[in-house]
Amino acid sequence: MTATFAELGLAETLLTALTSEGYTTPTPIQVATIPLLLEGRDVLGIAQTGTGKTAAFALPILQRIATTKTRYVPRSPRALILTPTRELAVQISQGFATYGRNMRFKRALVFGGVGQVPQVRSLANGTDVLIATPGRLLDLMNQGHVRLDFVEMLVLDEADRMLDMGFIHDVKRIAERMPKTRQTLLFSATMPKSVEELAAGLLNNPERVEITPAATTVERIEQKVLFVTKENKRPLLAQVLKHHDVKRAIVFTRTKHGADRVAEQLEKTGVSAQAIHGNKTQSARQKALEAFRRGDVRALVATDIAARGIDVDGITHVINFELPNEPESYVHRIGRTARAGADGIALSFCDAEEVGYLKTIERLIRQSIPSHDDHAYHAEGIAGMRHSTSARPAQKRQGQANRKRQAYQGANPGKSSANYKGDKRKRA
Ligand SMILES: Nc1ncnc2c1ncn2[C@@H]1O[C@H](COP(=O)(O)OP(=O)(O)OP(=O)(O)O)[C@@H](O)[C@H]1O
Ligand SMILES: [Mg+2]
Repeated sequence: MTATFAELGLAETLLTALTSEGYTTPTPIQVATIPLLLEGRDVLGIAQTGTGKTAAFALPILQRIATTKTRYVPRSPRALILTPTRELAVQISQGFATYGRNMRFKRALVFGGVGQVPQVRSLANGTDVLIATPGRLLDLMNQGHVRLDFVEMLVLDEADRMLDMGFIHDVKRIAERMPKTRQTLLFSATMPKSVEELAAGLLNNPERVEITPAATTVERIEQKVLFVTKENKRPLLAQVLKHHDVKRAIVFTRTKHGADRVAEQLEKTGVSAQAIHGNKTQSARQKALEAFRRGDVRALVATDIAARGIDVDGITHVINFELPNEPESYVHRIGRTARAGADGIALSFCDAEEVGYLKTIERLIRQSIPSHDDHAYHAEGIAGMRHSTSARPAQKRQGQANRKRQAYQGANPGKSSANYKGDKRKRA
């Protein structure tokens, strides 16, 4: 028996918004967390990419705002959502607008790389929900444009990324300025143990909701590794993108410079492409993403800036032109395809220097990624390296983890994202 959104206890205003968005059934993470969040519990939520974590936290927040009144305090949000990237902040803000379309509430968006004046103005106009990246938020807090002492709900989306080395201090400083009585929610598809310990410090008696083990990739993604020399990666990419099946692809590189070079080269071979990375202006970043969303460019060439959370309909392929050195990134990158019940293909190019990364990734995801050898640039010598003796311990661990996973799934039939088909309307 599958639950309905109404059975989860959501208010009518939200239910009608979900119907118009074409959501028929809640996803497993939504079923498991929405009732807990409505009760006010702290939650650490782990679920695969593309399975509706945004609505899982946004709906209960909107419900609380719609049903409880508080004293109006200027420049003071009731809910704060922190995200690691600006594009993700924009997307989450749009999600709140969609789910909350039938209710009155104010939202504000705060992120760096653009002028602060409009952001300050929108904060001054009053805000119920503030979606922010940590750096600019701290900046505006220090200037007195925003105060957090009445925050009732804090969400860290992509919690593990938010708490890793780059962000932990900012997040801690932000959290210190909030009431201890707040409700705190952490969501991600991955959660390394080290980060989970850090996270524990922000939560109060949390409920841990794990739909599938952390770092489980979506079953509907067909994953392949292509062994190739560094020099042959560009011609291989051109060849892959010649295929008509590749309708919309996101190509990941390890460096910003690399992203630019790959995008330029694709343009030369007649494939419309744009790059998105941290050295671009914010307006160029946003334009590239929008052109990709509209379908004006077929390939978006990105650094890990676009690896997490970004939700674009109809991405048929994710191509790892270079493998990420942080294995969690692999899970997030390939999760840009096969969202909301769709299918997708993930191709990873692996050169001699990257075989070690490949092994680390396979250990994390507890799977061995099949090799696709039937291409003009296949490098058998590199393919052989994955089976060198040092690969053995990884394979042993992987077997154990697979058995554990099967047992888990057997105990939770219907809890896999493969069992829900989003009857979601295509957005223009
Ligand atoms: N119950 C539902 N029915 C149909 N579609 C849904 C449902 N919930 C969410 N979606 C859609 O699924 C897509 C993915 O949702 P979302 O971006 O929240 O995933 P996520 O779990 O946060 O993924 P990631 O780990 O990559 O951030 C979105 O396009 C969203 O509109
Ligand atoms: Mg998300």
